[in-house]
Amino acid sequence: MKLDKPKVAVWEPPFIQPHKVGAINKFGHRGAKENVSADVFGVPVDDLVDQYGSPLFVTSESQLRSNVRKIRRVFERRYNNVVHGWSYKTNYISAVCRILHQEGSRAEVVSAFEYEKARALGVPGNCIIFNGPNKGKAILERAVADGAYVQVDHMDELKLIDLVAAQQNRIVKLGIRINFDTGFTEAWSRFGFNLESGQANEAVKYISQSPHLILTGIHSHIGTFILEPRAYAEQVKIMCRLMRDLEGVRNVNIDSLDIGGGFPSRNALQRMYLPPEQAVPDINEYADAVCDALIEETRYLQLSGKPLPRLIIESGRSVVDDAQMLITSIVGTKRLPDGRRAAILDAGTNLLFTAYWYNHQVRMTREPGGVYEDTVLYGPLCMNIDVVRHTIQLPPLFAGDRLVISPVGAYNNTQWLQFIEYRPNVVLVHEDGNVSVIRRAEDLSVMMAQDEMPLHLTYLAMNENAGPGRSLADRAGWR
Ligand SMILES: Cc1ncc(COP(=O)(O)O)c(C=O)c1O
Repeated sequence: MKLDKPKVAVWEPPFIQPHKVGAINKFGHRGAKENVSADVFGVPVDDLVDQYGSPLFVTSESQLRSNVRKIRRVFERRYNNVVHGWSYKTNYISAVCRILHQEGSRAEVVSAFEYEKARALGVPGNCIIFNGPNKGKAILERAVADGAYVQVDHMDELKLIDLVAAQQNRIVKLGIRINFDTGFTEAWSRFGFNLESGQANEAVKYISQSPHLILTGIHSHIGTFILEPRAYAEQVKIMCRLMRDLEGVRNVNIDSLDIGGGFPSRNALQRMYLPPEQAVPDINEYADAVCDALIEETRYLQLSGKPLPRLIIESGRSVVDDAQMLITSIVGTKRLPDGRRAAILDAGTNLLFTAYWYNHQVRMTREPGGVYEDTVLYGPLCMNIDVVRHTIQLPPLFAGDRLVISPVGAYNNTQWLQFIEYRPNVVLVHEDGNVSVIRRAEDLSVMMAQDEMPLHLTYLAMNENAGPGRSLADRAGWR
């Protein structure tokens, strides 16, 4: 790694900076001094920007593969019937999905679009887990015909699947999503059938009375970025107890328990006091919690020689977050009236939606010079809300400097906004170190491709030759 020294001595006019409580805590200085590197996933930042522009999302194939392998390995070591579903909404860039499918992950999708995308990427219907609260009839017809595994969210959907199954004259095996209180996290009660209120039982009753439906799975997703592994142990216990309660019910034969996702990545959630290396438990702790509870609660099955349920995991952010970084360039700097230093970046919350929840790591790509101080990082949008970071200790920055923001792989390439700016290139660093574009930057043709112009608006006669009759300028009285 080669770092350029600052080319000029750094001088700034003197300023008064109020003392900030917390700038130094018991772990040392809060600064980013150690965060300096001119490379991203082994490729020089300058080379990447020269070739692909700034801002730029850089994705690592090796990191992605090793993350998903690790997650599967830690669970498979403890329990021998594990399936990983790749949560499309976390990052559905085609190459990312394809890598994870090559690694054996199924597709976990939550909309008609995601379903169609998985199929277009070659995923067979029976390797798709179809979740989400909005599955319309047309896509359910396709999913049922394809043999996809549908996990039902609510009663109207259940009735719709029943109808589709009847119309196609099929017997459909399905799962139901349930929600409940683990005592550790806020229950995501808006998704699925509530267990405590008896809604889940009503769904089971409906299925047991249908000649077209068989209940084969129980699903729950208790939240995201869950820092408490014991929440999963409790989740698994509750699901296993329901499975046991349902033994012998007509049209019920539970063969899979889907615990959703939610394992955290090494990212710094805002208001998290400790740094991620200390606050985020290792994935082994989650695997222990899940598998110990599962083995304990299914001992009765083992003793009677019955097969154990398949464990489905749908982790998203823990697979992809640290496999992507964002390179951004400083457009300009200014000092705010209250004395704070500010920098304007070419990437803002339009590209980094997760900046609303995380204090991402921000790295310099050259040797810093000058005094570190609290700095506000603004994005390029002409909108007040576009703040990438409200305060971070950084040295003096200059227009043209580059920063690397990480980890950004989860929920940015899907929740990014086409707002004011074009969305930039996304590249992949291949396992052999080569780099290629996996999503092209937008340009005007992309942005206008969906627009339609009504006939009476087809000519803009601002110039004299642009169509019959008087020019727009004349008609508008501009002259
Ligand atoms: C049903 C379902 N499964 C999986 C996930 C992936 O969660 P995470 O990225 O936290 O692992 C989500 C995200 O909200 C979800 O709603």
